[in-house]
Amino acid sequence: MITYEQLNQATAIAGDVLDGLSRMPKSLPPKLLYDAQGSALFEQITCLPEYYPTRTEAAILMTHADEICARLGRNVSVGELGAGTATKTRILLRSLLRRQFSINYFPLDVSDAALQLAKDEMERELEAVKVHPQVGDFEDLAFLARQTPPRVVLYIGSSIGNLEQDDAISLLRNIAQHLSSGDQLLLGVDLVKNRDVMHAAYNDSAGVTASFNKNLLVRINRELGGHFEPDAFCHVSFWNETASRIELHLESTCLQSVRVDALDTTLQFYQGERIHTENSYKYTVDCLEDLLQRGGFEVENIWTDPDFWFAVSLGVIP
Ligand code: AVJ
Repeated sequence: MITYEQLNQATAIAGDVLDGLSRMPKSLPPKLLYDAQGSALFEQITCLPEYYPTRTEAAILMTHADEICARLGRNVSVGELGAGTATKTRILLRSLLRRQFSINYFPLDVSDAALQLAKDEMERELEAVKVHPQVGDFEDLAFLARQTPPRVVLYIGSSIGNLEQDDAISLLRNIAQHLSSGDQLLLGVDLVKNRDVMHAAYNDSAGVTASFNKNLLVRINRELGGHFEPDAFCHVSFWNETASRIELHLESTCLQSVRVDALDTTLQFYQGERIHTENSYKYTVDCLEDLLQRGGFEVENIWTDPDFWFAVSLGVIP
């Protein structure tokens, strides 16, 4: 028996789950990792000593906040894709408030819980920021039209790393289509670096990334009446050099079948079979410039940290 609430949630993710787990090899879309628990686990990841991207990007934003804000138009409204709890965004908005009296801030995220936190924290810390949260995924970009020009859209945190190159370009073009000449995009991407550094970031010693990955199975159990035994799967993550990405998988430790009630189906897993759950593409500065241009933006500037581990770029609609 599943409850009405479960059924309601089920309709949202059932299609994606059935589709992904019917494929060969099996896969699941990474956005499913971010339910309330997943978002909370990701917040923990961002504080791990091995997970360099968040603090490196935060350091870039802090070091160059003045310069970044100076390049933003006068009296901009701020949109953000995949805002999460918007911790890093507060660095930028605080600095932007030295140039304008108020800010209308439009965060978009798949996690309602994360957005609530973002709104509460933002309005508590920065009174002059009015938050207009929007729950949805990147197919729902119509909210950008609610933003008054001149606009800046933040897409930081290297979330774009989840996307295949073609999808990344399409997404930027899609964003561009909702913007007008002079509007800007602030895009943060993780850069290719020493493979041990990258590997450790996705295989932390505390096992938080493993829990984050396995939470996907916990979510399917809860929302779709699944019967996954999360510990019958292990977290597998490695650097794929040819594709320039970190991959995350869940690997079945034994031959097993798993019933998922709401899908009215039983899934078979052989020992060692993997579900591909996430990619995290790493860019070079050249590839980043290329991405912006092909996405319809002119490159205004790129800021990096001293080790060139992470890049924050500013593009403008010509
Ligand atoms: C939220 C997509 C930027 O790719 O580093 C972190 C997700 N997955 N650890 C990333 C993630 C496992 C993260 N992004």
